[in-house]
Amino acid sequence: MKKRTLNLTILLSTLVAAQSNSADTVSTQSLEQEGKGVIKALASQLGNELKATAKNEGLPAAIKVCNTQAQPITQQVSDAKGWDVSRTSLKLRNPNNAPDAWERRVLEYFATQKTLGADLKTLAYSEITTDESGRQVFRMMKAIPVSKQCLACHGGQLKPGIKAKLDELYPYDSATGFKAGDLRGAFTLKKML
Ligand code: HEC
Repeated sequence: MKKRTLNLTILLSTLVAAQSNSADTVSTQSLEQEGKGVIKALASQLGNELKATAKNEGLPAAIKVCNTQAQPITQQVSDAKGWDVSRTSLKLRNPNNAPDAWERRVLEYFATQKTLGADLKTLAYSEITTDESGRQVFRMMKAIPVSKQCLACHGGQLKPGIKAKLDELYPYDSATGFKAGDLRGAFTLKKML
């Protein structure tokens, strides 16, 4: 008899948990979709700017684009979309992109997933969290893999002209030595609920 009551309690709490979970999943899913759109907008804007400058003025000039344009472009996309979006990494070039505690945990989770064979192109994580003032915030991160065209500025063997420019602008740069397919970092997004 005692066992039966226990089973029923377990069943009920499982049902309640399942119900609240599915409500959460639905709203989180649509926020995740929206967030992915914001990431696409930022990634294509950063990529286009980089490609155009590299093509017209050469790669060392493209560093200038990343140096002076990455932050304003990121801010512009944030303002336009009503989301707070930026990029972060465990190996930083610009210290302004340093992860907070939550982001660090997710980056470490991505790194572990990568060692387990996860596909970085689709690796993402999202969660509804509470900020310091008790408000609910939707937070989401999406992994950024290293591709071949990143190696000129983030790879192991930088051309002297590129290295000199990076050393000058980022004396504490630790965003080099990557190989194609590595985890470079992540897009990180916030939306107040
Ligand atoms: C022309 C050189 C150049 C190329 C090519 C380049 N980057 Fe960068 N990257 C930079 C610079 C410079 C910064 C620092 C930007 C800043 O000051 O905000 C940076 C910053 C970043 C950051 C922000 C985190 C941090 O370390 O500050 C990420 C993420 C990143 N790059 C990923 C990539 C990826 C992925 C590619 C390839 C698709 C790429 N980069 C190609 C120069 C480059």
